[in-house]
Amino acid sequence: MNDQGELQATVKALVQSGKGILAADESSPTIAKRFKSIGVESTEENRRAYRHIMLSAPGLGEFISGVILFEETLGQRADDGTPLPQLAARQGIVPGIKVDAGKIPLALAPGDEITQGLDGLAKRLDGYKQLGARFAKWRAVYNVSDTLPSRLAVEANAEALARYAAICQEQGVVPIVEPEVLMDGGHSLDRCAEVTEGVLHEVFHALHRYRVVLEHTLLKPSMVVPGKEHAQQATPAEVAAATIRILRRTVPAAVPGIFFLSGGQTPAQATANLDAMNRLGAQPWQLSFSYGRALQDPALKAWKGQAANAQETQKALFKRSRLNGAAREGKYAPSMEDLPA
Ligand code: 13P
Repeated sequence: MNDQGELQATVKALVQSGKGILAADESSPTIAKRFKSIGVESTEENRRAYRHIMLSAPGLGEFISGVILFEETLGQRADDGTPLPQLAARQGIVPGIKVDAGKIPLALAPGDEITQGLDGLAKRLDGYKQLGARFAKWRAVYNVSDTLPSRLAVEANAEALARYAAICQEQGVVPIVEPEVLMDGGHSLDRCAEVTEGVLHEVFHALHRYRVVLEHTLLKPSMVVPGKEHAQQATPAEVAAATIRILRRTVPAAVPGIFFLSGGQTPAQATANLDAMNRLGAQPWQLSFSYGRALQDPALKAWKGQAANAQETQKALFKRSRLNGAAREGKYAPSMEDLPA
């Protein structure tokens, strides 16, 4: 198969109705923070055990089409020796890999950040592919205030996302392009909309310059929401209207799928917001989820670091996946939260 056929097959496997992506690619500092919240130490074995439990959740492939893994996980094995990516693939879940090396302050731009990790990326992708990864993720982060992000940060991050996406496609790996406008702060929904529009416009301009094939690219944006500290929080209908308006202005119809991040929304909020978007009727692209916290939080709480809680952990993950699978079709109702896992 040539690379175009390979990329197309991966896109098709990821963009399936009723399914979304599980983001389980927390970096070492982030997973340590998540484990700390349940009083568990972040050792390599604990990380392996937790992710093993998730990836072997019975029936997960019914609602999850892909999983984003951290580099360490790609090389880890199940208790019976099966490589963890293979465990996912067996359930029909396409393994993917976070390839950025995290964010650092953007020089001479106080308050802005830039994502690094481009050096040696083609070679790393080659290795990841051999371990089973078929798609990748790169996250750019934008802090919001009255003056942030600066024009410089918007341009520099777009450039890095586009270079990453081009390198992925050349290696036969589908790029997920993730520009995350953060929810931290007291900004309004309108300010988030303004920043998101500018960010996405610049990202697609850069993707075009770098000759990235949009048909083989997936977008993972944040939703348009007010900052966490803003006095007036938004209803799902408001979030959906604002998000779709901005996406329609900025995301070409050639992009097959948009997989939202949850970004600090509660699991129920993230599900309700996605549902509200899918109730607005057909859009040029499929609207789905690629949640980390919003899929995993209840599972993490059920696990508590104990092997004996494996089944409860899997049930909790399955439940959130099922509810988001419904939201992906605009068929979720908050009352479904009360049904047993
Ligand atoms: P959240 O859904 O927890 O924001 O995580 C998604 C993700 O992959 C962040 O990079």
